[in-house]
Amino acid sequence: MLMALALSFFISMLSQPWYGGGDALPPPPFGISQTDLLKYLSLENVKIDFPALFVFGDSLIDSGNNNFLPTRSKANYSPYGIDFDHGTPTGRVTNGRTVVDFIAQVAGLPFPPPVLGLSEVERKKILTGVNHGSAGGGLLPPPPAATQLFGHVLSFEEQIMLFKNTTLDYLKDEFHVAENLSRYLSKSLFFIHIGSNDLGLYWDFMEKHIAVDKYAQFLSGELSKRLQTLYELGARRFIVNNVSPLGCQPYQINKMKPQTPCMEEDNRRVSTYNKLLPCLLAHLESSLPGSKFILGDLFQLFEDVYASPTSYGFKNIKDSCCIDVNRDGTGPCVPNISPCDDRETYMFFDPFHPSESMHFLWARTFLKELL
Ligand SMILES: *[C@@H]1O[C@H](CO)[C@@H](O)[C@H](O)[C@H]1NC(C)=O
Ligand SMILES: *[C@@H]1O[C@H](CO)[C@@H](O)[C@H](O)[C@H]1NC(C)=O
Repeated sequence: MLMALALSFFISMLSQPWYGGGDALPPPPFGISQTDLLKYLSLENVKIDFPALFVFGDSLIDSGNNNFLPTRSKANYSPYGIDFDHGTPTGRVTNGRTVVDFIAQVAGLPFPPPVLGLSEVERKKILTGVNHGSAGGGLLPPPPAATQLFGHVLSFEEQIMLFKNTTLDYLKDEFHVAENLSRYLSKSLFFIHIGSNDLGLYWDFMEKHIAVDKYAQFLSGELSKRLQTLYELGARRFIVNNVSPLGCQPYQINKMKPQTPCMEEDNRRVSTYNKLLPCLLAHLESSLPGSKFILGDLFQLFEDVYASPTSYGFKNIKDSCCIDVNRDGTGPCVPNISPCDDRETYMFFDPFHPSESMHFLWARTFLKELL
């Protein structure tokens, strides 16, 4: 009771206009109930209804699959997870919950667990969604130099294979009637964030570059094929995120030291790809009966924050909150050193990855599209 009172007081304080105005709202307490969260978001009267959340993508949404892969691309050590359940590192590449965790909380679902971490028994019981994401994964397999650096991670294609040969296999047993499984899958939400490694890390590691517009065309073709595969497997409701302005990440700025605020070359490459998505998704929606493709314009969201950080509650948009292994803002967090205290006001937790606050803003922005 006291907790509930304290919480509602906390919530009413934060919803006062003096708190930054704009769209500033700090992440809610870790264990918040669905009811309190909907209140916190002023969404009490809306019905957000899907039975399961299936997740695919890269480090922005991996919840621990890489812990089970022979890769050095892991975030299963502190200070990652410092704002997660009792400060537990999980493999999430941020300080707390990710965008998909928040969407799950809003929908009253458990956080989608990493598929590779589930035992046979657990797999059979889970009807609320699974996470297939893998930090370092892309639309394409990584170029050899990248594989050499971080080992084996799951490409989007491998993630879909895993969905098919594990997740879907168990669901078939669970549902018995094919029609019931189809209905469940068609109501479920498929959340996808992929392509940032193809346009960032993989590009940097490529020995030879083709023209940017050809590369973007090629990537969007790969995306289209994979989305169709998911459709054929039963998916109908998709959120497909585009790629954020990679040239503004602390990593790019610290490494390349551009004269401009961001590395414009990186941002142009990302934009060339992003511009193909609205048309691609509209085409898929019109050609695949019963499908719904929502574009998550993450690039625009980042640009909005860069244009007016304080109105979103951010005080620092260019530095990593954690101390990184290279001590110059170009590597992952160094283990067991305390990160910045005011994490809520940092846009980035490490030099590549958004903070929990940014993940929460991301979730809030695109939740509106689901209503
Ligand atoms: C399922 O797919 C994954 C990813 O492609 C693969 O590594 C694994 O061997 C497959 N498992 C089975 C049982 O086919
Ligand atoms: C399939 O769905 C129908 C309608 O919701 C339900 O009555 C039936 O029990 C389901 N069948 C199985 C085997 O779950």
